[in-house]
Amino acid sequence: MTNISVKEPFYTETFRPQFHYSPETNWLNDPNGMVYYNGEYHLFYQHHPDGTTWGPMHWGHAVSVDLIHWEHLPVALKPDEIGTIFSGSAVVDWNDTTGFFGGQSGLVAIFTHDGTKPDSGEKFQAQSLAYSTDNGRTWNRYEGNPVLLDENQADFRDPKVFWHEESNRWVMVLATGQTISFYTSPDLKSWVLASVFGENQGFHDGVWECPDLFQLPVNGNEALKKWVLLVSVGDNPDFLEGSRTQYFIGDFDGQTFKNDYSHDTTLWLDHGRDNYAGVSWSDLPESDSRRIYIGWMSNWKYANLTPSKSWRGAMTLPRELSLAMTEQGIRLRQLPVKESAALRTETIELKRNEFMAGNQIVYTPETNAYELEAEFDIKEPGVFGFALCSGSLEKTVVGYDANAQKLFIDRSQSGKSDFHRDFAVKHEAELKPKDGKVKLKVYVDWSSVEVFANDGELTMTDLIFPDSSSRGVEWFAEEGSVQLLSLNVHLLKNIWA
Ligand code: FRU
Repeated sequence: MTNISVKEPFYTETFRPQFHYSPETNWLNDPNGMVYYNGEYHLFYQHHPDGTTWGPMHWGHAVSVDLIHWEHLPVALKPDEIGTIFSGSAVVDWNDTTGFFGGQSGLVAIFTHDGTKPDSGEKFQAQSLAYSTDNGRTWNRYEGNPVLLDENQADFRDPKVFWHEESNRWVMVLATGQTISFYTSPDLKSWVLASVFGENQGFHDGVWECPDLFQLPVNGNEALKKWVLLVSVGDNPDFLEGSRTQYFIGDFDGQTFKNDYSHDTTLWLDHGRDNYAGVSWSDLPESDSRRIYIGWMSNWKYANLTPSKSWRGAMTLPRELSLAMTEQGIRLRQLPVKESAALRTETIELKRNEFMAGNQIVYTPETNAYELEAEFDIKEPGVFGFALCSGSLEKTVVGYDANAQKLFIDRSQSGKSDFHRDFAVKHEAELKPKDGKVKLKVYVDWSSVEVFANDGELTMTDLIFPDSSSRGVEWFAEEGSVQLLSLNVHLLKNIWA
């Protein structure tokens, strides 16, 4: 691996994530082109290398061998005469269907060109290809770009491509306004429209973006597999939630996606405010059947305004997605990838017997980079949980209201929030106890909280901007009675040190 020139102190700026991916400098949004090849996980991303706000889009690039440590690489794709480089995916062309690789395999990026027609000045979006014969270090534009254009559609972007084994061809899942369009191709160069999904299905109050489609076993049963379609929905000022990601579960035959649930069922991937445009890795080795996902940890409502300085934007932890059968039907589960355990440097076991009521600081870590694991046994319903990053004036509350059966994050006093009026809020989502118990796994990383409840049944991802001196981990219980069965704090390392 090449060494980046390390400036000291590195990755210690105010609010800088310690163990999440963030760009060395300047702006980041969506994860792009995630592909595994020759022992490396590639992470490309929407990047503006000349500023800390959104601007002419490039693909930034990083690689990892363990999903934990990341090496920054030079910008992979830059704007060209067709347009700037919007979101898209990358695949390994194992059988050289493109003919780019002289019979060998190589990487192909399929991305959106966002351009302006020179004659009319009208905007357009079209899909283009670039390929690499050196493990993604350098890229060649395909001379036949763009490969897919539709004059009649203004929002026509974010191609996610995969090889569909059964029909022996490539499938492209594309965001097309308020729908998702499926195209097929033998060679990534010529594409035919197969079907369109989405009319009257799910949530439509915002433009549809960044789709992904993949198959997963239900409850680990390989004989019962279902397809999951992720669709991110852009910000709509009428909704406090801003931009967020929904998902559908159903079947896909290589041409058409059929939703299993009624047209008005909306399933949200994450119930926090800051997990958007997430997609999954392609081409994991055959020995690894996981579906690994990363999202952009921000929200278009205020993404350009968050109070970091020389950089802006970070990714969620890589998460393993799975499907579980529940009383309501099949649902997504998410947990940090098992590799995340390697982040732990020290574990503090805070065993407590009974916390009936009141508040108390139970631990003060040296820095706000830790994983907290707790299990509660609810004896009599009340409200309880943790105030994290707590100081004299600040706290981020991750709590459970056992009467309402809701998990919540309250970031109304979490620190800096004056950059947008909708930031300082409390939000909640339904969560049923399991045999009277609730389990929480919470990752805190200087400017974010990621909550995984009941083994990944519910996730909430939020940005927070606390003062670095606000470090208390405070237990609270109001009314009712709850037994804290276990409480562990794992201190997590700075992956850039
Ligand atoms: C989603 C998105 C994509 C687009 C990209 C531009 O956040 O709007 O639809 O390709 O960002 O940066």
